[in-house]
Amino acid sequence: MKRVDDFRLKFGQKEYVPIMVGGMGVDISTAELALEAARLGGIGHISDAMVNDVSDRRFDTSFVKDKTKQYKYNINNLDKSGVKFDLDVLADATRRHVGATMEAKKGGGLIFVNCMEKLTMNSPRETLQVRMASALDAGIDGITMSAGLHLGSFGLIADHPRFRDAKLGIIVSSVRALQLFLRKNARLNRLPDFVIVEGPLAGGHLGFGLDWAQYDLAIIIAEIIKYVKDEQLNIPVIAAGGIFTGSDAVSFLETGSAAVQVATRFTVANECGLPADVKQDYYRANEEDIEVNTISPTGYPMRMLKSSPAIGDGIRPGCESYGYLLDANGNCAYITSYNRELALHPDGKNISVMDKTCLCTQMRNFKVWTCGHYTYRLKDTTRRNADGSYQTLSAEHIFKDYQFSVDHQIALPV
Ligand SMILES: Cc1cc2nc3c(=O)[nH]c(=O)nc-3n(C[C@H](O)[C@H](O)[C@H](O)COP(=O)(O)O)c2cc1C
Repeated sequence: MKRVDDFRLKFGQKEYVPIMVGGMGVDISTAELALEAARLGGIGHISDAMVNDVSDRRFDTSFVKDKTKQYKYNINNLDKSGVKFDLDVLADATRRHVGATMEAKKGGGLIFVNCMEKLTMNSPRETLQVRMASALDAGIDGITMSAGLHLGSFGLIADHPRFRDAKLGIIVSSVRALQLFLRKNARLNRLPDFVIVEGPLAGGHLGFGLDWAQYDLAIIIAEIIKYVKDEQLNIPVIAAGGIFTGSDAVSFLETGSAAVQVATRFTVANECGLPADVKQDYYRANEEDIEVNTISPTGYPMRMLKSSPAIGDGIRPGCESYGYLLDANGNCAYITSYNRELALHPDGKNISVMDKTCLCTQMRNFKVWTCGHYTYRLKDTTRRNADGSYQTLSAEHIFKDYQFSVDHQIALPV
């Protein structure tokens, strides 16, 4: 009977344990978590979502406070088009976050940054370019482009000296999305170094509609592996979404996937950025406590616990401090929804917004409890303490369980 450790992910001449820990913004996949994956010979992700805020927390900078001060005059203005990111600050924050993480890296694995393209930041092209280029400047091993795949993203860093040496990959949920990306990038003569295929059971935003349950990762990935082979592309294809045991992973590795990307199992790791009490909520969740809803202003469905405090919370849009989801014209679907409710309650009191959430502020405060479909199985991966709470696990324990377990077994902590 095979185990994950019988396989290796190859990038050129180098080999890695074929386990990637997926990016989880905002700072849920912390540097500590990514560093453990790399130390153990796999691949870890940090995320650059709301990187100015992450830098403030990690390095005591004051980027968010400074921005809030600069745009304070606009807080009651419904028009957010004037709220911009300072590109030098964005570069500085990214270099700090990535640079400190890379300096701490040990072991034979790699660290990538998850870069969600739906963070349009009131200036999609310029901000994305700065995010990618600064991560490369700071020595990141690779970049994974996700959520809202911008077909021209590789082109934005084509002049960077590390453009051909860093690993660049994309997340797709259909063969069509991959084909479009490859077509658009043909002139760059630069294929993605890896393609992550994320199925409908993943956490975070989904590349599917509310009919997500009709899709099956195994079918999509088979289609993509066939396409890559037929086109003689030689791109490692990585399966993600709902891979809960080492044996689940083996079934993908045996059928042509080069690695797996996993995340949900690591949401209860000691190194994961979720607050300790929220980890307990993840553990306690039952299947009926999890939903896929449309409250994300990005327009993508998102999976989360129904008890997420963000749901229905009618806070004032936090764009003057954050503003990561403002489109090129300074709009965000939450602002529209909030203004609709404000018109009904002009005193600004008792505002509840059900259809959208202020994703920046709420993610920043860990109030959107996004999670994978199998979160309800996390309770089976640990033991309970005398007070009834669940033991959190080390990332190493979870990683090695994926790497060495057989027969769908899950090792409990000692
Ligand atoms: C809490 C959480 C947050 C996530 N955030 C992101 C994100 O910021 N960007 C992204 O591309 N994927 C995100 N994902 C998706 C994961 O990176 C990963 O591809 C997917 O969840 C794997 O499926 P699994 O959770 O069933 O193992 C997130 C997943 C979880 C559980």
